[in-house]
Amino acid sequence: MSALFTPLKIKDVTLKNRVGMAPMCQYSAIDGVMNDWHRTHLGARAIGGAALIICEATAVTADGRISPRCTGLWNDRQMEAVAPINAFVESMGAVPGIQIGHAGRKGSAHVPWNGGAHIASDEKDGWETYGPTDQAFDPDGTRLWKTPNAMSVGDIHAMTANFVASAKRALEAGYKMLELHAAHGYLQHSFLTPLVNTRDDTYGGDLRSRARFLLETAEAVRAVWPENLPLATRLSVHDWIEGGHGIEENIQIAKWLKQAGVDVIDCSGGGATPAARASIGERTSDQVGLAGKLRAATGLKTMAVGYITDPKQANTLIENGTCDVTLLGRQMLRDPFWAVHAAQALGIDPKPHMPVQNHVVSS
Ligand SMILES: Cc1cc2nc3c(=O)[nH]c(=O)nc-3n(C[C@H](O)[C@H](O)[C@H](O)COP(=O)(O)O)c2cc1C
Repeated sequence: MSALFTPLKIKDVTLKNRVGMAPMCQYSAIDGVMNDWHRTHLGARAIGGAALIICEATAVTADGRISPRCTGLWNDRQMEAVAPINAFVESMGAVPGIQIGHAGRKGSAHVPWNGGAHIASDEKDGWETYGPTDQAFDPDGTRLWKTPNAMSVGDIHAMTANFVASAKRALEAGYKMLELHAAHGYLQHSFLTPLVNTRDDTYGGDLRSRARFLLETAEAVRAVWPENLPLATRLSVHDWIEGGHGIEENIQIAKWLKQAGVDVIDCSGGGATPAARASIGERTSDQVGLAGKLRAATGLKTMAVGYITDPKQANTLIENGTCDVTLLGRQMLRDPFWAVHAAQALGIDPKPHMPVQNHVVSS
């Protein structure tokens, strides 16, 4: 038996194997509402045998989107549109998960095919952005990043309430795993890292104070997200730049998150500043081993991500205790049937990992 194809129970949710699709922005929603693109994108990977399908960074407010075409869960129309997609994903034997977040000072960006995802949008289809301070992502302004509004304590409390409201909608929409986005320089990560958070109030200063916003959010979300369903958080487990966080700070944050009721840490990296290493790219493979360190130090379940492409490589990561779930991003875009192909490559019968089609073919 291959470790990659053993089931995993987290709370009352069982994953049929250890292959998940990483959250990936599709820049294809209109007014935050998902559509046929998302149904096909998410549904294809569910049919393709992945046990866990994590829907892209989904904004808790309209100004929390990365681009105008990002998904949202700030209103009921968005919730109603995605509910049938989740039902389909589940009927294919996969667990529908979602990442909720706020883009912070990296919001209001162009879609990739219209100038690059990481260039701020112009005033026409852009919006005001928010951060721990009024320092822009790129203070030189060479890439036109907006100057964010420094959030007041009232703004922070209101934002926590927005996370809670989106979590409730996620539950009603049928998601079975919820992930808080606290990585890649977006709002929650920008409060965590000293590279960005230079506040001198209760939400800045030492590590515990910088983590206050995330921990309050995790606690508040846990209070509405059922105890029997897993709650995850994506962290940049390394900032990969002088003056930023390394794995030790993230182990401490993860321990606090565990106390707040978080079950799983999705171990990503980078993205805090333009000079820090990017959150997507070949070098993300460096962060994979850190999932094992965090797992050993905290007793939390971990998901590893970053250039995982090969079935044997993924199997070894489960076997040697680096992680409980392997997440694939770009490779899952190239091959929606990666899990089935991986089973074949590892000499496993792929049938139990393929959909039972009569779930959807009604009489
Ligand atoms: C098109 C695209 C969109 C992405 N969108 C998100 C996202 O919405 N949320 C997130 O946390 N990471 C996002 N990522 C990062 C991936 O989840 C993943 O961490 C990264 O691509 C490294 O994994 P890989 O080497 O398997 O692609 C995105 C990556 C790609 C390629």
